[in-house]
Amino acid sequence: MRSASDKPVTIGLLGGGQLGRMMIQAAHLLGVRVVVLDPDPHGPAGQIADQVIVGAYNDPKALTELAACATAFTTEFENVPAASLRFLAQYGPTYPSADCVEIAQDRRREKAFFQKAGAAVGPFLAVTHDQDLRSASAGLFPAVLKTAELGYDGKGQAVVDDPQSALKAFYQFNRVPCVLEKKLALTQEVSVVLARSAGGEIAVYPVAENVHRNAILDTTTVPAQVSAALTDQACQAAQRIAEAMGYVGVLGVEFFVLADGQLLVNEMAPRPHNSGHFSIEACATSQFAQQVRICADIPLGPTTLKFPVRMTNLLGDLWYPQGATGPIQTPDFTRFTQEPGSVLHLYGKSEPRPGRKMGHVTQPWVQG
Ligand SMILES: Nc1ncnc2c1ncn2[C@@H]1O[C@H](COP(=O)(O)OP(=O)(O)OP(=O)(O)O)[C@@H](O)[C@H]1O
Ligand SMILES: [Mg+2]
Repeated sequence: MRSASDKPVTIGLLGGGQLGRMMIQAAHLLGVRVVVLDPDPHGPAGQIADQVIVGAYNDPKALTELAACATAFTTEFENVPAASLRFLAQYGPTYPSADCVEIAQDRRREKAFFQKAGAAVGPFLAVTHDQDLRSASAGLFPAVLKTAELGYDGKGQAVVDDPQSALKAFYQFNRVPCVLEKKLALTQEVSVVLARSAGGEIAVYPVAENVHRNAILDTTTVPAQVSAALTDQACQAAQRIAEAMGYVGVLGVEFFVLADGQLLVNEMAPRPHNSGHFSIEACATSQFAQQVRICADIPLGPTTLKFPVRMTNLLGDLWYPQGATGPIQTPDFTRFTQEPGSVLHLYGKSEPRPGRKMGHVTQPWVQG
């Protein structure tokens, strides 16, 4: 594929993880090249990229090199330096924008933004000083203290029962800015992945139902077993959030469902989302293909669900059958590969670690 300037369409991708790898797989099916900038040339994305520029995400020399060889820019991880996206945006379309990524990078900014966009969030308190926790309302406990920045897969989080234990956790986090969220009794968790083009067209994926284990996504099942009203509410809230930000790209929005049917926004991810991996096999157009289409200025594809589906994450723990201190043993994946319709994705990470996402499996889902 060639761009308007007759250069081959090439996406400059910041980040070298599994989301980048799956984006490259989708790009190649659309005749689009991908150049990865990452400190590690051998990561999941680097292994299959058309070119890898080895460097830090904020290295001016590496960014200048990336700017010169790509026609559009994107990222596959949330904590990308916003300044790097701003720099690249001078050279070509950059989706998502630095402004949107900055909102998602700080839980305080993110929650304030959700509220402004008319999407309800659970009770929380922004925490900067010890005093914030000392005077926290008793009604917030038990609570989850989360670092405002840089958390993922439950990292930078502590469940706390009272102000005293919250203070202890705050000190363990080196007193970086945090949010203290009321620990809610969740009946379900759902997410909405959507794609929004530069022209403002939106394609929404079917609502996904997520089960977490130790604060890490375990399974995603689609369609979510929730009422039609709740499905509508989640889709509309996600669209409102994308529109209010002027967001361009693929966006994942996570929600909590409470016993009384209330739907609250948890957080968003300005990139393809783990709970959208099912779309590779089960939807007419995958979330990764949409991100590529948006960057390459190809119209969005349909998001129609082809069959009910379950995605299961494969964590590094599977490589340690005798526990985290035992020897590493490559798991036997034949139970997935032999099952008709089941698709195994391994991300090519060299080092399995407990809790690390090593791959996932997608299987047709029969309600049982
Ligand atoms: N306030 C809360 N009340 C109840 N459960 C919660 C709360 N906050 C988080 N959890 C549980 O922990 C999980 C992870 O939380 P959260 O999404 O905030 O973390 P994260 O580290 O940003 O994860 P990721 O980015 O991998 O989705 C949630 O999906 C939910 O299961
Ligand atoms: Mg989350």
